[in-house]
Amino acid sequence: MSHTITIQPSGHQFECDSSQSVLEAALQSGFAVPYGCRNGACGACMGRIVSGQVEYPNDVYVGMTLQGESDDKALLCQARACSDLELEVREIGAAKDIQIKTLPVRVHRAERLADDVIRLFLKLPATQRLPFLAGQYIDFLLKNGQRRSFSLANAPHDDALLELHIRRVDEGFFTGFVFERLKEKDLLRIEGPHGSFHLNEESDKPLILMAGGTGFAPIKSLIEHMIHTDDHRPVHLFWGVRNQPDLYLNHLAELWQKKHHQIQYTPVLSEAAADREWTGERGWVHDSVIRHYADLSDHEVYCCGPPPMIEAAKHALKQQGLNEEAFHFDSFEFNH
Ligand SMILES: Cc1cc2nc3c(=O)[nH]c(=O)nc-3n(C[C@H](O)[C@H](O)[C@H](O)COP(=O)(O)OP(=O)(O)OC[C@H]3O[C@@H](n4cnc5c(N)ncnc54)[C@H](O)[C@@H]3O)c2cc1C
Ligand code: FES
Repeated sequence: MSHTITIQPSGHQFECDSSQSVLEAALQSGFAVPYGCRNGACGACMGRIVSGQVEYPNDVYVGMTLQGESDDKALLCQARACSDLELEVREIGAAKDIQIKTLPVRVHRAERLADDVIRLFLKLPATQRLPFLAGQYIDFLLKNGQRRSFSLANAPHDDALLELHIRRVDEGFFTGFVFERLKEKDLLRIEGPHGSFHLNEESDKPLILMAGGTGFAPIKSLIEHMIHTDDHRPVHLFWGVRNQPDLYLNHLAELWQKKHHQIQYTPVLSEAAADREWTGERGWVHDSVIRHYADLSDHEVYCCGPPPMIEAAKHALKQQGLNEEAFHFDSFEFNH
């Protein structure tokens, strides 16, 4: 059975079948609403129900994500419509114009950047390109039907090869395979681009970019895109990792700061207790942001990395006056 969904404040309408999530139906109809993990964990797709009812066939994760939210909030990647719905959701213009493709890719080069990080360069078939927005991600489609998400680290203009930064997860099925068996020239299948984590080009507010670990990948794409397009908004990049070797492209971030007066870079180590040589900042990356910026009411923040970091940043930065709409995030949830 199909229901009519109305998005407010735009008034856009689309039909949603009871077998699909509201998010799937919105994307299928060409409406770009925010989303990230698509499995109920990150909260990026949250909207407000103005009228109508939804249900959750997979309510395991939804319960945790909606904890502490008011009753009228809905997770659109999981919600099924039980009636016509009126929803309040932010729409994002640009992503909807980009076609999602499934493509074979060949491993062009694999570089070890740290003990637990590999940088992969993937080559598309000669006649293909993958248009995307800086900050978006792709899914690897595995032979067993599962998928694994990784952010694109190259900027859209530099698209001859796709660049990914892959952190090894303990006992990880796919990342274990990448570290132990994947070789140059091997073939993989990808689908993308996905995600609504990309620059708000309409804004002229200064930007704070926060990366945790390999959350540096999409942030690199954003910065390289801004440099390429002569976007001169002030940017302050904070990169939080455990120890110095985890700053796997530190020299690149330092180079950005040196060559571009609008870019400032602050690396932050959370486990540097025994590192006497480290003279930089220590502790959690969001605490470092707060030390630098007591009032965030006139900033936009782009935050990418592990879910605990995103959650901590979301709450802490709100206390400093950051507008909810100005907090853009991509949470590296694992795929269920
Ligand atoms: C939108 C998006 C973008 C992402 N971009 C990147 C990226 O650019 N670089 C990157 O390194 N990762 C990224 N991730 C995370 C990445 O997708 C996971 O690390 C990956 O799916 C793990 O696959 P696996 O098969 O090795 O682990 P699995 O075999 O699926 O999991 C093995 C075990 O580890 C746990 N686990 C899985 N993933 C994680 C994790 N990320 N953190 C902690 N525990 C985990 C599982 O619960 C399980 O117990 C992204 C995730 C999302 C949703
Ligand atoms: S919770 Fe819906 S996209 Fe992450």
